Amino acid sequence: MTQHVPFSNHPIFIGALAESLPEWLKTRNYSQVFLLADVHTDRLCRSLLPVEVAGAYTIGEHMEQALLTKVHGMEVLKTIQSCEAIWQAMFEARLDRKALVINLGGGVVGDMGGFCAATYKRGIDFVQVPTTLLAMTDAAIGGKLGVDFNSIKNAVGVFQNPAAVFIDPFFLKTLPERELRSGFAEVIKHALIGDRTLWQRIQTMLVQSLSATAWDELLEASIAVKTKIVSEDPREAGIRALLNFGHTIGHALESFFLQTEQPLTHGEAIAIGMLCESPEDTTATLAQTILRFFPHRQIPESAFPALWKLMEQDKKNTSGTVRMAVPDAEPFSMQWQVLEREEAYRRLWTYNGLNFSN
Ligand SMILES: NC(=O)c1ccc[n+]([C@@H]2O[C@H](COP(=O)([O-])OP(=O)(O)OC[C@H]3O[C@@H](n4cnc5c(N)ncnc54)[C@H](O)[C@@H]3O)[C@@H](O)[C@H]2O)c1
Repeated sequence: MTQHVPFSNHPIFIGALAESLPEWLKTRNYSQVFLLADVHTDRLCRSLLPVEVAGAYTIGEHMEQALLTKVHGMEVLKTIQSCEAIWQAMFEARLDRKALVINLGGGVVGDMGGFCAATYKRGIDFVQVPTTLLAMTDAAIGGKLGVDFNSIKNAVGVFQNPAAVFIDPFFLKTLPERELRSGFAEVIKHALIGDRTLWQRIQTMLVQSLSATAWDELLEASIAVKTKIVSEDPREAGIRALLNFGHTIGHALESFFLQTEQPLTHGEAIAIGMLCESPEDTTATLAQTILRFFPHRQIPESAFPALWKLMEQDKKNTSGTVRMAVPDAEPFSMQWQVLEREEAYRRLWTYNGLNFSN
């Protein structure tokens, strides 16, 4: 069944895209439809689009080349050079200001395609059709768009909401297991910061069941947490920072392990980050659930100084102080905690010492 999510000023549909997208398009009066996909979503997800849209499929030659040349990792394509190729394709398709861009993909396609649409001819409408769990629960919600620049993640971008978001869990059927788990870390985060019932439900979930999960309700609950927060604080002046729970230490781990033979996915890093950043008296309880989905990964002590250097570069820092946004006692409440180097090391040690068997 297709439904709307509360707290959002634009429709967010959860359910069969074949139902919701054509119905919604009928209520609009777009001159053209421009579809942006990456090589995987072009191959695996495009055929699931309703024929009305698939028929209007347009992907510029430049974009196809840009995406096909670097299939080894999508984040490396989240650049201003790719945007140039997308804008070029938009001009070649002669998109006017009444055209619609459909972003079919994970967070990379959504962030970058949304940014290109929001800036093309000073902005045209776009919709997000997220195809990864991470994009469904997080990236497609909240209007943050942009690209990496000089190796700094999301360094250039804008805030702009899509005209609508279409979430069809059916896309998850082709998503690799590791990507699915990666997105699940954000579902866990949303539960921990805002929805105790969702957290209870997650605690009883079986790891093996992730790929067979009925996602509709879980997604609805998870997305409702994010939409509530971003509707209260669209520009991250206050409570939106709570969405960064786990990310001060998590981002440092993600960047550090990216340079090694065994990189962590974003979600794997955030899962460890949440365990490190959570209040001490809750760590053991969280670990019982989180370590079932994200097996323990020992962090070498020799990496601690490099990890601390990365934390010192975190964008939430003020006046040279490393800060973590952590949940307070009540759902949707937050406190800032200053993190000193010794404390960061201690928290990493504590994580290393968590010895639950999986
Ligand atoms: N805007 C935001 O608020 C926000 C929030 C969180 C993350 N992000 C951004 O999201 C990006 C990460 O997004 P992601 O994890 O979705 O990664 P991604 O977009 O790189 O997708 C991961 C991989 O899965 C493939 N894929 C996508 N859908 C598939 C499907 N249904 N079946 C099979 N393969 C599929 C993609 O081709 C890609 O290889 C990062 O750039 C991050 O900065 C943005």
